[in-house]
Amino acid sequence: MGELTPAVTAILMALAGALSAFAVYWYFIFRRVLPLEASLEELRRQAEQFREFSIKKSREAKTLYDVAALTAQATQAQSALSAMVAIIATYLEADVAAFLLLDEATGELVTQPGGHGLEKEEQSYRIPLADGNSSSARVFKSGQVFITGDAQNDPGVITHYARLWKIHSLMTVPIKKDGRSIGVIRAGSFKRDYFTREHAELMGVVATEAATIVETAMLNRKLAETAQQLEALNRIKDDFVSTVSHEFKTPLTTIKGFVSVMLEGDTGKLTEQQVKFLTVAKTAVGRLEQMVGELLDLSKLEGEMAMEFKPMVLDSLLRASVEAYRSQAQAGGKALFYDIPKGLPMVRGDESWLRLVVDNLISNALKFTRSNGCVRISAMEKGDFIMVCVEDNGIGIHPEDKERIFDKFYRARNSNEISAPGTGLGLAIARQVVAKHGGKMWFESELGRGTRFFFVLALASHGEEARIQ
Ligand SMILES: Nc1ncnc2c1ncn2[C@@H]1O[C@H](COP(=O)(O)OP(=O)(O)OP(=O)(O)O)[C@@H](O)[C@H]1O
Ligand SMILES: [Mg+2]
Repeated sequence: MGELTPAVTAILMALAGALSAFAVYWYFIFRRVLPLEASLEELRRQAEQFREFSIKKSREAKTLYDVAALTAQATQAQSALSAMVAIIATYLEADVAAFLLLDEATGELVTQPGGHGLEKEEQSYRIPLADGNSSSARVFKSGQVFITGDAQNDPGVITHYARLWKIHSLMTVPIKKDGRSIGVIRAGSFKRDYFTREHAELMGVVATEAATIVETAMLNRKLAETAQQLEALNRIKDDFVSTVSHEFKTPLTTIKGFVSVMLEGDTGKLTEQQVKFLTVAKTAVGRLEQMVGELLDLSKLEGEMAMEFKPMVLDSLLRASVEAYRSQAQAGGKALFYDIPKGLPMVRGDESWLRLVVDNLISNALKFTRSNGCVRISAMEKGDFIMVCVEDNGIGIHPEDKERIFDKFYRARNSNEISAPGTGLGLAIARQVVAKHGGKMWFESELGRGTRFFFVLALASHGEEARIQ
């Protein structure tokens, strides 16, 4: 081999230099890339973890949303609970799930209908709280969550049921209201070691919502029972009032008849004192008779009674009622005016019931007006209605009595002031009668100055309507 020329040597050296520079370059590149690769791997792992975490969280959020929506719509606790069981089964991917609630009467936990993954006959069983082998009873009493991954061999579980349902994992969470257990939720899986603390947390949230539903359902049931009892009591009271009033009617008529006969002297001459006593007796019987009549009217109104609506002329009814009270007004030194325009259209009504209304309003106006006062009855057409007004310049009604004046048996404080007899039923009856006609009754009053009672009745329909000339 010949000697290398300096030029070739120089080229070779340059090449060697370039190669080592290249190697050094790659060495540095690799030094930087390798850790980068490692961190990339780490990043990938974290991204995967984050993806799993967000799936889990969104599943939790969806569960919570579904449960909350269910709670808001729940009208029937039972169906809401079975829907919740379905939610648990979906989000926990459990194979069986059921609610057990405490039956306070027997001290047992009772499975609620609508369990998931269970046959009908497997669903209905009761666990006494005293059963030491039952994990549900323990969870109920301790308020602590129970999880096992091997339910068929766990001494803390009634393994018979675990085998029956073929489950290996079991999770039981208490349902608490105000710190007190009211039941438990159970979820089971065919897989071993399936349930985790996170599952338990999610089920805990469902349990809180379930507690609200169960509590509301219990309150509703109690309310419904109370309402039923009240209704029954009310019916007994109404029946009693109606029967007693009927029974009173005949003897009262007899007493009234005999007292009148004696007062008229048909049984012999009476002393002044006898006349006085018999007159008192007659007034008292009259009052009793009125009260019995009102009680019977009320029981008819509140019963199944149907009114007989016909087109009718209201002004002749008003006139007849005024005339019936004319002598009473005169005897009390009160003026009774009548102000009804001619040609009022007919109304649709039941004549005998409407007469009761007008009679009571006039009787009240006279009762609560001192002598020298006056009472005025007027009527006017108002669109599709006729408005009747009974006005007096009597003692008036205290504003604090306003709310209750139409209540049954309510007599305002002014009835003591003027010692007016009565039962407090007249206005209750009047308002109900007007309401049954589809009308309205109300009043305006000023203490010490007088009162105006109004009611409106619908005009008879066009086919039936006739104008009085
Ligand atoms: N025109 C009126 N002026 C003042 N107070 C009145 C008037 N009408 C009714 N009231 C008050 O309203 C109460 C209830 O009236 P309502 O007609 O229901 O019963 P009442 O007249 O006392 O008894 P009843 O009508 O059963 O014989 C009366 O006791 C009275 O206190
Ligand atoms: Mg009255």
